[in-house]
This record gives sequence, structure tokens and C-alpha cells, in this order.
Amino acid sequence: MTPQGLPSSSTLDIPAVSDVPRHIAVIMDGNGRWAKQRKLPRVAGHTKGVARVREIVEACVLAGIEHLTLFAFSSENWRRPADEVSKLMELFMQALEREVDRLHRNGIRLRIIGDKTRFNARLQHLIREAEALTAGNKRLTLTVAANYGGRWDILQAFNAWLRDHPGGREITELGLTPYLSMADAPEPDLFIRTGGEQRISNFLLWQLAYTELYFTPTLWPDFDAKELDRAMAWYRQRERRFGRTSEQVHVG
Ligand code: IPE
Ligand code: IPE
Ligand code: MG
Repeated sequence: MTPQGLPSSSTLDIPAVSDVPRHIAVIMDGNGRWAKQRKLPRVAGHTKGVARVREIVEACVLAGIEHLTLFAFSSENWRRPADEVSKLMELFMQALEREVDRLHRNGIRLRIIGDKTRFNARLQHLIREAEALTAGNKRLTLTVAANYGGRWDILQAFNAWLRDHPGGREITELGLTPYLSMADAPEPDLFIRTGGEQRISNFLLWQLAYTELYFTPTLWPDFDAKELDRAMAWYRQRERRFGRTSEQVHVG
């Protein structure tokens, strides 16, 4: 949404751009390889990864970022071995139990996006409690994408629109936007993927239309505040044209 509360879209309007991204979206990849390099079980990498989340959230608050969106578990990650999936769910529950008070004290609003119906009742309950507790916080919105897929998001938005418009035959871009999971955030300015792969892996497909894409070989458990600074310095060098020529951008 724009500050006026109207839905916005980078393909319809040219957003205001500043040196500090308003919204950073991250694929936190490389936990398994980090553990393997140390001859540890994969879950050790995930545990270290959670600690990095804490550090990066704090760094984003200090940098004045408004929205941080983290990909924690994709709709395709269910394909992993059952014991890894259940350990990831356990870690997610633990993090909600242990970290939410601190987030709240720091003025952070927590949101979980994704198909939550597949989670067990306890996890769904923890999610609801955390979202309700932190709903009024304004300093930073931390969105965690869990059982999230970009295609799922577009389809659930489309289906929700159809429910609200029985007999509707045509949907517009601005018609769909309010139904997407990230409707109340500006589109990401900066996307970061750690772990060296250069792909989107079904993350925010719609919202990344004009996002600057930063890929680093650094594994997520090694991605510290300095690495975040490096990504933001790279971002400051980008020329965001949104379809225009460079000359037009400089005329303003
Ligand atoms: C990212 O790290 C965490 C999740 C997908 C949950 P990975 O577990 O994918 O780590 P690699 O890619 O195997 O190193
Ligand atoms: C993407 O990482 C999902 C998350 C980080 C949660 P993956 O490691 O699952 O991605 P692929 O399968 O290598 O593309
Ligand atoms: Mg991976």
C-alpha cells in the first residue's frame, strides 16, 4: 500500500526510490552446506541460521528498514526427509516461544505468510498469538514466509477475489493487489539470496517484478551485519529505471 493506503504496483506507478531500501526480502539459503562443511548434522546449520535471523533483524531496525521479509520454509521444502522437516517445525515453534517477547519490546510487528493450514495446531496457535501481540508495532515489520510459494500466493489471491466478486470475469492488477499476502507492504526494493544459487525458488514472484536482485556465495549462517551492509552498499549503486531510460531517470 502507498502511505495513503492505496494499493501500489511498480508496473503501474514509478515508486519513490531512496538510498535505504524500504523493504528487503531474503532467501536464507546454505544452512545445510554450512553444517556439512563442519561435519555437523544439517539441523545444526538451521539452529545457527536462527541466531543470524536475530542479528539481521536488529541490524535492519538500526538501518531504518521498514519491512524485512524472510523465506523460512517453502511449499516445496516438504519434499525433504521427514526428520529434517519435523526439526525445522520444532525450531520454528521454539523461535516463536523464545523470541516474540523480545521482538515486541523492540517495536517489531511479526507476520507469517504462507499456507498455515498445513501446520499443527500448536504452531498455528503460536502464530496467531505472536501476530496479535505485535500487531500494533510500527518500527519494523518482520514477515516470515513459511509454507509459502509465490504461485500459491497469486492463486489464493485470485480465488479470494473471486469469492468477493461472484460472477466476476476479469481481474485487474490493482484489483488483485489487495488480496496478495504482502498487500500492506511496498514491493521489495532489495532481494538477497545467500548460499550462491541464483534463482527465485518460488519466493515472491509477483512482488519481485522490479526488485534489485543480490546474490552472495556467503552461506546464511555466516551472513552477518557486515554482509548486510555490503548488500545495501551494492543497492545504493543501482540505477532503478522502471522501464525508463537512464537520461529520464536523471532528469527526475
Ligand atoms: C535454507 O538452507 C533453509 C531452508 C530451506 C529451510 P538449506 O537447508 O536449503 O541449506 P543448503 O542449501 O542445503 O545448504
Ligand atoms: C529456498 O531454499 C527456500 C528457503 C530458503 C526457505 P531451497 O534450498 O529450498 O531452494 P532450492 O530447492 O535449492 O531452489
Ligand atoms: Mg538450500
